[in-house]
Formats: sequence, structure tokens, C-alpha cells
Amino acid sequence: MTKENATFGKHLRSQFVLDPNYVPLNHGSLGTFPHSVSEALKKNREYVELHPDRWHRVEVFPKLRKARESLARLLQVEDPSDLAFVQNASTGLASVLRSFPFEKGDKIICFSVTYTTVLNGSLKFLEDAGLVELVKIDLSYPMSDEAVIDLVREAIQQHHHQDKPIRMAVMDAISSLPAVRFPFEAVTRLVKEHNILSLVDGAHTLGQIPLDLTTLDPDFFVANLHKWLYVPRGASVLYVPKRNQHLVRPLSITPANDFNKKVNKVPFEQDFGDPGIFDHSPFICIHAALEFRESLGGEEAIMKFTHEMAVKGGALVAELLGTSVMENPEGTLTASMVNVELPLKESKYSDGETERLFIEKIIYEHNCMAPAFKHNGKWWVRLSGQVYNDLDDFKYGAKVIQQICNELQK
Ligand SMILES: Cc1ncc(COP(=O)(O)O)c(C=O)c1O
Repeated sequence: MTKENATFGKHLRSQFVLDPNYVPLNHGSLGTFPHSVSEALKKNREYVELHPDRWHRVEVFPKLRKARESLARLLQVEDPSDLAFVQNASTGLASVLRSFPFEKGDKIICFSVTYTTVLNGSLKFLEDAGLVELVKIDLSYPMSDEAVIDLVREAIQQHHHQDKPIRMAVMDAISSLPAVRFPFEAVTRLVKEHNILSLVDGAHTLGQIPLDLTTLDPDFFVANLHKWLYVPRGASVLYVPKRNQHLVRPLSITPANDFNKKVNKVPFEQDFGDPGIFDHSPFICIHAALEFRESLGGEEAIMKFTHEMAVKGGALVAELLGTSVMENPEGTLTASMVNVELPLKESKYSDGETERLFIEKIIYEHNCMAPAFKHNGKWWVRLSGQVYNDLDDFKYGAKVIQQICNELQK
């Protein structure tokens, strides 16, 4: 048995809060956390309640600052003052999009696979307000990275004009449905060459792929801690380098008081440092989450295992279903989530109903979870590899997925 086999696998499930009978193949949607993090969460909540004023008026500022320092090391960001905590990726993205001083006629590059709350939320809001024009690039996977980059290059040539410039490009680092790694490093570089700002939605990055934000040098970057880093839900981070901090304000603006200013010296971190009363405890759990990850062998070992689990698990499911994995010849699309084509040629139901029924059946009839979705004219399922999985989970997944498809097939 290799060291990795000894460290990772289904036996780790008992270290997580998960129902031991649940077969979890959907870590990507909501994440989850181990008992040690759950204990840290309870402990902080109880500590807050011993003396709420002590926490909310005074101690929260140095504690959150310390949490941002830990995170800065992980993200390879030199100055923790360039990081702000937000409660979820949607809030971080909306903070940038809804406060950036767009001018009438500005354009924003986005993609057909951009996360729905961003595409149909903040971006649509700006478009409906007549402020910006969206340049939406259609992506039909599987595609090579080169083909994606070429489409962005073409869009810039066609739509970037002096009087009506493309002001910003909003891109996922790893998209949701389909779950594919986007060539965000190359696209960030490409748009920068054309004076276009990059807003990278890294909701799925932290804990799934290595990040070095100093080298990447995006204009704005958002990442969730509650998906892949084992931090409880309600914890995300917004990175804005100094050159752009004057362009972003939080969604709720609370002028900084002196307790905030005593700890936070930079206006950007003061601004985001006190968004009104809420539960800060998930952020405080960063230390416990990183400690647990270290106990498993650290970031590199975890990412290697979860990636290989997704690749092997996806291949097994595709073989058992008689279908294929969504991958390009270079093999760059799969990180730790994999998309497998479903044996569902035509559903009896509408697309929306099919998605809903699939979820209801897989949760309530099979105590498992993996979302189905339609892309490029075919039905797919997204499966996540995690440290607590083994190939038996994927085998079980294939069996129940086949059964559900039989029930939905026209
Ligand atoms: C690519 C992407 N962006 C943004 C989000 C939204 O994250 P949150 O629910 O934390 O706002 C998700 C959630 O799955 C996502 O997959």
C-alpha cells in the first residue's frame, strides 16, 4: 500500500461530519468539513456568545486579520491588506461588478458557461441598466485551451474599439457546469495586453488547484473557502491589487470605526472589514481547516489525490455507462471534477424538470448526489473526487445514474 492509499480514501469519511451512509460525489457544489473544523466553529461561536461586545466591537478585527495572513500565504499574495473577506463568491463578484465605474458604452467579455448568478445576476443588471454591453463568447465543450483563447482573441479584435472599449473580461478559473478548467492564466495575460481588466471567478480554485496570485496578477480575483478548502459555508475571499482598490466598494458600506482602523491600515481592508453584524466564525476556522489539510499531507498531496480520483472515477463511470468523459486531447479540462455523458438520449421531461427529478431521485432514492446538466446538445453528470472517496463510490454512482436515466428516458 502506498502512503497515499494509506492516507486517503473512504475510511477518511468518518473524520468528516457526513452521514456515513451517504455516497458523496458532489463536493464541488457546497463543500463540507471535518469534525475538527466543526469543533473550531462551535468553539468560536460559544466564545462570541460569552461576551458579544468583546468580540464584535474589538477582537473580530485582529482575528480576521490573522486569518487573512494565513490565506495570503496560501494564495501567494504578499500583502494581506489586498485581501478582503466576503460571505460567498457571488458577493465578491457583485462587489466588483456593481461598484466598478463603468461608463456608458463599455463592454464586458463573458462566456456562455459563466456561473448563472453572475450571468443572470450582476452582469444582466448592468446590461439592463443600459450601462454596459455584454460580449458573450459561446463555449461548447470539449474544447482545447487554444480554441478558447482564439475565441477570446477574435472577440477582442471584433469588439474592442477606442470609443466603445471592452473594459473588463469576466472569466471562471474552473467553471461549474460543465466543470472544466478554463485557461484563465493565458486569458488574463491576453486581455492585459489589450488594456482590458480581468475579473477571475475562482470559486472552485482554492484547495482544488494551486494558486499564485502574485504571478497571475489578475485585476480582481474571487475564491471560495467553503467549497474545496474544508472551511464552513459563508467564507470567501476577494483579492484586489493596490492599483485597483479605489475602484471597488463592498455591497454594504459601513464607515470604518477606530477599532477597525487600529488593525486595518488600508482603506480597502477597512471598507470590507466591517460589513455589519454577521457570523464571522467560518473565517476563524481557516486555521483548523489548514491544520487538517496539513495532517493529510498538505495541499499538493490532496490535490494530486482528488484529481486522480476524478480522472479514474470519471473513466470508470463512463465505462460502466457506455459513454465518455468530457475531455480534450491535451487532457487539460479535468481538475478534481469530471463530466461524464449520460446514457439519456431524450428525456420524457423538460430540461428543467429533468435536472430537478435527477437531483430528487439521486438524493432521496439513492442517498447520493451528483448534478445532471445539458451541454452542447447532450446530457452530462458532474462528479467530484475528494479525499474521502474511493472507486467504489463511483461504481455505486454509475449504478444509480443508470437507473435514473432509465426512468427519465422517453
Ligand atoms: C464558478 C462559480 N462561480 C460562483 C459560484 C457561486 O458561489 P457562492 O455560492 O459561494 O456565491 C459558484 C458556485 O457553485 C460557481 O461554481
